[in-house]
Amino acid sequence: MMSKEFIKVMGNRQSFSRLFDPPPDTKLMKDILVASLRSPDHMGLRPYRFILISGEQRNKLGELFAEHKLDISVDEKSEISHVAKQKAFRAPLIIVGIVSFQENQRVPRWEQKIAAAGVIHNIGLGVYASGFGSIWRTGDFASSDIVRKGLKVNSNEEIIGFLYVGSRPEKQRKLKPAAIDDFFSYWSD
Ligand SMILES: Cc1cc2nc3c(=O)[nH]c(=O)nc-3n(C[C@H](O)[C@H](O)[C@H](O)COP(=O)(O)O)c2cc1C
Repeated sequence: MMSKEFIKVMGNRQSFSRLFDPPPDTKLMKDILVASLRSPDHMGLRPYRFILISGEQRNKLGELFAEHKLDISVDEKSEISHVAKQKAFRAPLIIVGIVSFQENQRVPRWEQKIAAAGVIHNIGLGVYASGFGSIWRTGDFASSDIVRKGLKVNSNEEIIGFLYVGSRPEKQRKLKPAAIDDFFSYWSD
C-alpha cells in the first residue's frame, strides 16, 4: 500500500455502532492481530492479553452483562436483563482488551495501559483498512466485578475495552477534517 493510501485510510477510520455478519475470516483476523502487536511497548513488557468472543460464546458474555445490570439496577428487572444480554450481540466478534499490569520500576501502570490501548486501536484500524468495521466500548461493563469474574480477569488486570468487530454498514459518516491547529503546533520559542 502506498503511504498516501495508508494515510487516507487512517484519516477515514470511523466507528460503527452496529456490526454485522460475517466478521473478518480467521486468517484475516489472525493477520490483523499479529500486526496489531507491533504497537509501541516500553521495555517490551507486553502487559496485555485479549479474549476473542464469537458465535454462541456471546450468550455467556450477554449473561454476564445482564447479571451486572440487574445487580446495579432498581428498575423493572426482566426488560433490563433482556436489553443487556442483547448488547453482546451487537457484533459477530467481540475482542476484550485486558491490561495485565506488571511490576516494573521503569514502566508505570499508565504506560502499560496505553501500550495495551495502542494494540486495540491498531486492531480497529486494521479491521477498518480491511473493509470491515469496529467500535471500542467500555460502558460500565469494563469495570464490573461480575463481568471481570466471569471473564477470569485477575486482580492485577483491568479491562480497557470491548472491541466490537464485524461487517460494516455501507453508509459511512461524512467526516469533517479536524482543525489541526487546535491540536498541533510547532514549537517556536
Ligand atoms: C477507551 C474508550 C472507551 C469508549 N467507550 C465507549 C462506550 O462505552 N460507548 C460508546 O458508544 N463509545 C465509546 N467509545 C467511543 C467510540 O469508540 C468511538 O470512538 C466514538 O463513537 C466516536 O466515533 P469515531 O471513532 O467514528 O470518531 C470509547 C472510546 C474509547 C477510546
